[in-house]
Amino acid sequence: MKILFAASEAAPFFKSGGLGDVLEALPAELAKNKEDEITVILPLYKKIKGNTALALSFVTSFSMPSPLSEDYVGVFRLKWGKVNYLFIDNEYYFCRDGAPYGHGDDGARFVFFSHAILECLQHIGYYPDIIHLNDWQTAAVPVLLKAFYGALPAYERIRIVFTIHNIEYQGYMPYDFAANVMGLPCEYHDVMRYGDSVNLMKSAIMLADRVTTVSRTYAQELKYAYFSHGLDPIIKQNEYKLCGIVNGINTALYDPKRDKALPAPFSSTDMSGKAICKASLQEELGLPVRDDVPLIAMISRLVSHKGLELVECVLDDILSRDVQLVVLGTGDGKYEDMFRFAEYTHPDKMKAEIRFDSALASRIYAASDLFLMPSKSEPCGLSQLIAMRYGSIPIVRETGGLYDTVPALNTETLSGRGFTFQAFNAHHMLDAIDRAIAFFHDKKKCERHRRALVRYNSSWRASAEEYLTIYKSLLA
Ligand code: GLC
Repeated sequence: MKILFAASEAAPFFKSGGLGDVLEALPAELAKNKEDEITVILPLYKKIKGNTALALSFVTSFSMPSPLSEDYVGVFRLKWGKVNYLFIDNEYYFCRDGAPYGHGDDGARFVFFSHAILECLQHIGYYPDIIHLNDWQTAAVPVLLKAFYGALPAYERIRIVFTIHNIEYQGYMPYDFAANVMGLPCEYHDVMRYGDSVNLMKSAIMLADRVTTVSRTYAQELKYAYFSHGLDPIIKQNEYKLCGIVNGINTALYDPKRDKALPAPFSSTDMSGKAICKASLQEELGLPVRDDVPLIAMISRLVSHKGLELVECVLDDILSRDVQLVVLGTGDGKYEDMFRFAEYTHPDKMKAEIRFDSALASRIYAASDLFLMPSKSEPCGLSQLIAMRYGSIPIVRETGGLYDTVPALNTETLSGRGFTFQAFNAHHMLDAIDRAIAFFHDKKKCERHRRALVRYNSSWRASAEEYLTIYKSLLA
């Protein structure tokens, strides 16, 4: 099979969150099958174009008509491991300073990208069997395929899979966007519209051959208004083609035995390095070096849907316990300041590292005893998987992928994986934290459970097989 992944980001080229990790690991996992040819197509952002270490080679260029003008499209190529990468070049849209997203014309930029993906296929003579789209930035592909390429035989066979990584971002555009920016004939305007706007994600859900999301529970949750950000009627209408497939992590990359960022390696058969990691991090951050105090970590975007509201309510209570709390991440100024202030008032218990630093993240995963992730909603979540791989016991709210990957731990039998709570309620979270602290002091059991977590297989293999089954069923 020829499978083309399209997305707005993919590590190691550019990543702003979990989407970028998935677009690195899933294609690489699928490319292990000799009979499948895997390609990933991305915008050629300034950061990628300017990276001289990448040996990008120029493939072709052409101009593409748009309702506003004619646009230049350049196509570059790179082989990375077993995966082929294509990059769409247009300096006006993608070679900008600052973050690759968050520009006023993101709608037009990603519609251009989506159109260029389809247009370039005939220029390079490559026709995939499946185009696998990800999130709103590539959600214009299905409608553009139908409207502009439907009559071409080589395009007719292409099947579309659309994956929702987070339904919060849907690509809302003004009402006239379908005509004026996308240039769609009027018979396609209805499918683009939702309420008073154009909604790109809605159109992809309607038109894709299959829709997936990144955990089983999130696929169920999306049918409810609490989670759907307005799209529950569309989800319910298309439920017959929706399924949830949980994300994995790249277990070769996230491996406490091989991670170069750690002061001491460890594995499920020899956990002694973990204590060294803990002492070394306490020293690095200026916390008292103590092995008898539970070190709780949070590595997260500091925004309310990650459960920061709950932490805000009971931060003083948490810090009244004999614990150490280390927070790494950036986000809303309000939460950044809240943690900075807590560090000021509790210098021996709290460290607020308000930045993004992936080597420090590794050291924190490895050093921590407990990992707090109380999200309001969580499509899948990767941090809890990484935490477990580094022997840190998760404390999570029972939602989305957190529910699917962290079954409640039975502290008698040691079945399950972490401490969980159901309601989005600060005192329920505090109760889970207290249960986790008590478990930490049950030394023998805690140690046994940690080893089990490090051993737990969160690799991509099983989920990659599920995607293959979907692709095959679409081509049958
Ligand atoms: C989004 C979701 C996160 C998920 C990631 C990768 O960032 O918020 O839960 O793990 O996408 O699918």
